[in-house]
Amino acid sequence: MTSSNFEKENMPEPEQTKEIFNRKEEHLKIPIEYDVQHSINYFDDIKLNHHAIPEVDLEEIDLTFNFFDKQISAPICISAITGGHPVSKEINKILAQAAEEENIIMSVGSQRIGLEDPSTLDSFNIVREVAPTIPVIGNLGLGQVSSPYFKQEDLNACIDMINADAMAIHLNALHELVQYKGNISYSNFRRNFKKIRDNTKIPLIAKEVGSGINQDVASIIDELGFDGFDVGGAGGTSFAAIESKRNNFDNDKYSRNPADVFREWGIPTPVSIVNVRKASQKLAIATGGLKTGIDIAKSIVLGADIGGFAYKFLKSSWQDRKDNTIANTIREIRTLKNELRSSLWLMNLNNLSELKNRREKCVIIGDLYLWLNQK
Ligand SMILES: Cc1cc2nc3c(=O)[nH]c(=O)nc-3n(C[C@H](O)[C@H](O)[C@H](O)COP(=O)(O)O)c2cc1C
Repeated sequence: MTSSNFEKENMPEPEQTKEIFNRKEEHLKIPIEYDVQHSINYFDDIKLNHHAIPEVDLEEIDLTFNFFDKQISAPICISAITGGHPVSKEINKILAQAAEEENIIMSVGSQRIGLEDPSTLDSFNIVREVAPTIPVIGNLGLGQVSSPYFKQEDLNACIDMINADAMAIHLNALHELVQYKGNISYSNFRRNFKKIRDNTKIPLIAKEVGSGINQDVASIIDELGFDGFDVGGAGGTSFAAIESKRNNFDNDKYSRNPADVFREWGIPTPVSIVNVRKASQKLAIATGGLKTGIDIAKSIVLGADIGGFAYKFLKSSWQDRKDNTIANTIREIRTLKNELRSSLWLMNLNNLSELKNRREKCVIIGDLYLWLNQK
């Protein structure tokens, strides 16, 4: 990677880079060792419409999907998890190898540390080394794009790092808020984004990380010229819960840990999908609390195109790392595909377009019904 202006002008203090480096490992370990999932999963409130006489051929059901100009075998995305640490390199290698073998989408975690500390670049480069053909999504944060020092070269460096097919800009305001000395200054975002939009050839995706997207934000994202959404709704991994376990907060400002108080904050994933679809018809990845292939089907019925999974693949790759294999991750991907295919079969559908945005093919109950019918 060539040296970017971000490195020169926005060079963090060495201690700050070290803090990010240590945080990377903690972020991987905490979801494995503790329960940091949202307590309510709203996918349980969606019931798909069972068809008692399936006449379609189970094996003939077509799960293929075109992610921009690449065809993938099923609408499954390994969501952004990591990069920037030796353990991240091992995890990224396992995930990318499995994604390549199964022809699904692979995402890397925030590449900020790759811009700041060249010694961490191999943890990102490895992805393209082992996954030459599949779509790979890069990742940079709202905070970095909002920096007054942010330059097109920084984005280009992230793209080059992994030869990215698309770049996700993650919207993680809650996470930054509950983090000690988090970056909460985004007033330059729209202006900076417009500049990179005009000068970036690959698709740009706006990605929440677990607090979801309301209709107003979906409209802003659409109007700014993003090419797609990752709704990153509430229901799965809670970044506030992760930060709560790291237990570092500003005692001067808070008498109790804001990461505990905001643990359940956010718009549920199914609601976020509906919000996005009201504002835009662009690509939508549903992430946040998806557990099975049925949840992918439920997401698509509400209008999403792809199901994204972080926690599931963190768990499978963590096990793979221990066992020195990629078998657990491969098994997880195949299970998701089989569950999705079986869901379509039980609804007597031939392909994903017969499922997409077909609200009449599901019944919504409980709290999710209240969320969706709030005036
Ligand atoms: C350990 C861990 C690290 C993550 N790091 C990033 C990141 O760097 N960038 C990002 O956009 N999202 C990141 N995420 C958020 C996920 O991509 C995803 O949006 C969120 O975890 C919800 O999905 P889940 O419920 O399947 O875990 C991370 C998630 C986990 C569990």
